[in-house]
Amino acid sequence: MACAALYCRLSNAAFGRVVNHPMPSTLLLLVTVGILAVQSATGVSRSTTDVVPTLSASHTGTGDLSREKFPKGFVFGTAASAYQVEGMALKDGRGPSIWDAFIRIPGEIKNNATAAVTVDEYHRYKEDVNIMKKMNFDAYRFSISWSRIFPEGSGKVNWKGVAYYNRLIDYMIQQGITPYANLYHYDLPEALEQRYNGLLSKNVVADYANYAEFCFKTFGDRVKNWFTFNEPRVVASLGYDDGIFAPARCTNCAAGGNSATEPYIVAHNLILSHAAAVKIYRDKYQATQRGRIGILLDFVWYEPLTNSTADEAAAERSRDFHLGWFLYPITYGEYPTSMQEIVKERLPVFTPEEIKMVKGSIDYVGINQYTAYYMYDPHIPNQKPTRYQLDWNAGFAFERNGVPIGPRAYSQWLYIVPWGMYKAVTYVKEKYSNPTIILSENGMDDPGNLTLPAGLHDTTRLNYYKSYLSELKRAIDDGATVIGYFAWSLLDNFEWKLGYTSRFGIVYVDFKTLKRYPKMSAYWFRDILKRKN
Ligand SMILES: *[C@@H]1O[C@H](CO)[C@@H](O)[C@H](O)[C@H]1NC(C)=O
Ligand SMILES: *[C@@H]1O[C@H](CO)[C@@H](O)[C@H](O)[C@H]1NC(C)=O
Ligand SMILES: *[C@@H]1O[C@H](CO)[C@@H](O)[C@H](O)[C@H]1NC(C)=O
Repeated sequence: MACAALYCRLSNAAFGRVVNHPMPSTLLLLVTVGILAVQSATGVSRSTTDVVPTLSASHTGTGDLSREKFPKGFVFGTAASAYQVEGMALKDGRGPSIWDAFIRIPGEIKNNATAAVTVDEYHRYKEDVNIMKKMNFDAYRFSISWSRIFPEGSGKVNWKGVAYYNRLIDYMIQQGITPYANLYHYDLPEALEQRYNGLLSKNVVADYANYAEFCFKTFGDRVKNWFTFNEPRVVASLGYDDGIFAPARCTNCAAGGNSATEPYIVAHNLILSHAAAVKIYRDKYQATQRGRIGILLDFVWYEPLTNSTADEAAAERSRDFHLGWFLYPITYGEYPTSMQEIVKERLPVFTPEEIKMVKGSIDYVGINQYTAYYMYDPHIPNQKPTRYQLDWNAGFAFERNGVPIGPRAYSQWLYIVPWGMYKAVTYVKEKYSNPTIILSENGMDDPGNLTLPAGLHDTTRLNYYKSYLSELKRAIDDGATVIGYFAWSLLDNFEWKLGYTSRFGIVYVDFKTLKRYPKMSAYWFRDILKRKN
């Protein structure tokens, strides 16, 4: 079932995290049936005392994977974000972020869920770090909530928030879990949205740089691995083109907006903010703190639907508009040629001074990789610019000759396509002059209403990790410089628009008691990550 972006971008409001493609309604039916089949096959009637999943050999087979099969010093961890796991959203001095404002709009979040408590990592961080340690992980990629440190975005510091991150970091280090700190995960302080329209204003660059410097100064004696932003493409595209993520702006959105121009302005300010923070880190902290800094970029593998030149060009355009939007300026100092030609005067231009800051502004790049789609040229003649997504001039397809690209997870956007991992990583190596890569997110979700016994028996997830890690290893063996891998996520948690109806964890969380129960996939990681000495 193929479907041009132009005609099929309907009902996006129901989508999950990387919501940037249409969904043919015929596939919705198939997925519902698939979920029911999973539930009945995994024994919904087992009692809750039977919670330790049975590790039969057929399920835990390592697929020939082990820590030793990866390069020396390779880091394995799990990833999460502040808003999704901390709770205490408006407590202990934290100021609201744009997501706290967004979730109050009725109907935006499934079942009107909030992140007021979520999985309460703010209080249960020791338990969570202990689970990481038990499962033999080396590292935790967490994020710092800007408005927990600066409730107003700038100015007054909330020392209770600082103390929380100190507790978390100190405990991780005490337990041998290396901190990988991300400074921004969708959560701009609402005060800055009110003060100057947030990411639409160049004012954000200085405020972000100040916040970043505060973190380097305060935590950098212990944090040696930094990321400036998570998924700036999602921020710009879902927040300002679709309007389905905070701050919910788009052409004809209630909050106002312009889908043809604002995504590009926001992306530009994000890149400049990133570069400003990196410059401060390099000029003032890196020599003494001896850490590294990079950015986290989501990347879907776009496979041409056919071998036609037009489809191959459509797939490459899609990669440019998705990944190249950020990684091309960071590597080469300008936007991809395809974007310059299509977006023209709507695309901001870097000054020579800015190019100097942006080009080369990473020590490593984090790539979040989950899925792949087929892309094709819809052969739609030139039209008036209306929005970022239509500038791609590319159609999405989820099957070829009647064969689906892969089975689907619970999230509508997440097709399981292990070979996409190999192609995505190899592409980054080849097009972006072999950067140091951290595979910074990878995972899949089950429906939120899975019972505990069914949730623990996560063979689909286990096989997902096995196959994707095998493909990652193949890319490394073929020359990609990958130094770490982070599974998304340790815990089931607040999944943005899906609220608690989606479970990405390798650990099941009972959302009523907040008790944590490692799933079979967690024990699988424990086994492949065993240290030999
Ligand atoms: C969410 O809140 C809105 C507005 O208060 C209400 O109309 C709707 O029924 C609620 N939905 C659920 C699933 O609780
Ligand atoms: C593309 O061409 C190759 C080699 O000619 C062929 O093996 C492959 O099946 C073709 N793929 C598609 C999608 O047509
Ligand atoms: C779980 O939710 C799905 C919809 O997402 C629904 O079709 C199914 O009936 C639910 N299952 C249970 C056991 O409640």
